Amino acid sequence: MKKIAVITSGGDAPGMNACVRAIVITAWQHDIQVIGFRHGFRGIVDDLNQPLHPDDMRLVSQRGGTFLKSSRYPEFREVESAQRAAAVLDKHQIDALIVIGGDGSFQGAHHLAKYWSGQVIGVPGTIDNDLAGTDTTIGFATAVDTAMEAIDRVRETAEAMARVFLIEVMGRHAGFIGLHAAIASSAESMLLPELEPQPKIAEIADNILRARASFPDSSYVVVVSENLWPGGVAELAKSLSKATGVTCHPCPLGHIQRGGRPNAQDRILAMQLGHAGVLALLDGKSEIMIGKEQEHVVEVPLALTFKRDKPLDPRLVDLQLGLQGVNFTSKKG
Ligand code: F6P
Repeated sequence: MKKIAVITSGGDAPGMNACVRAIVITAWQHDIQVIGFRHGFRGIVDDLNQPLHPDDMRLVSQRGGTFLKSSRYPEFREVESAQRAAAVLDKHQIDALIVIGGDGSFQGAHHLAKYWSGQVIGVPGTIDNDLAGTDTTIGFATAVDTAMEAIDRVRETAEAMARVFLIEVMGRHAGFIGLHAAIASSAESMLLPELEPQPKIAEIADNILRARASFPDSSYVVVVSENLWPGGVAELAKSLSKATGVTCHPCPLGHIQRGGRPNAQDRILAMQLGHAGVLALLDGKSEIMIGKEQEHVVEVPLALTFKRDKPLDPRLVDLQLGLQGVNFTSKKG
């Protein structure tokens, strides 16, 4: 193996730079050159190549975002795009490609493998943590920290004014950020896509009113996963304000959750998985994701990772549901 390529693809995630650093240094230690393509799969198709050298990796792992750039590139589902990418990779005599990204990016990698003979490996990089076969993904821990800090700030004003807030967190179609942020911020309630049956407005309103009856001078925070409620927290707030007679304030956190310096956990995970990715390539592996389960680095067939069937940890769900139950217990009684 002489030359490998790396891309960061889909939604950027804090820690992606640290992963590239580990890939570049590990590869050079094995006399393998590394090329990056800017903007993910689009950058391969358009040949936006950038040679990567260990000297340039000195101070990248502290930075959020991805210096290699990324993009959404749904066109890559087309056969011609994959064939074009294969031709560009061959032109540069690339032996293997490492894709750092989430489920859409892994579907792209799987698609490319049908039209290109090089090795393809995925490293899980997404704040959503929605890839099966790994306990966690690069960027998730930092995003939860960021969401928690933001909710703590909202909490202070909410508590001062005894207000109800509906705080929308990211996750696309998964509730991992929602669950972890709800626990970490001691939210009074959480609405996540995985919780069945989904509560109706009357039930959520009733919970708010019961909590306010017990703690009339206190705040009430509901963590809501994005894409769950039609119209998002703005519409939910209108419906709940009407149903309760209490003004409910919507607060979508948005892309703030994707930014910021990666925390230690994400930097370490990123470097561990990036390093293991290069070693797996040297071992001849292909069409796998390098993940981490129960503190061990694992290799999982790429096709099993993006089925959107990763469950929340039921123990954490029970923990939050049990702790938030205290909202209905009167201090006096
Ligand atoms: O996949 C990461 C993520 O931040 C999701 O949580 C969110 O739904 C989506 O990306 C937003 O994507 P974009 O930045 O392309 O609008």
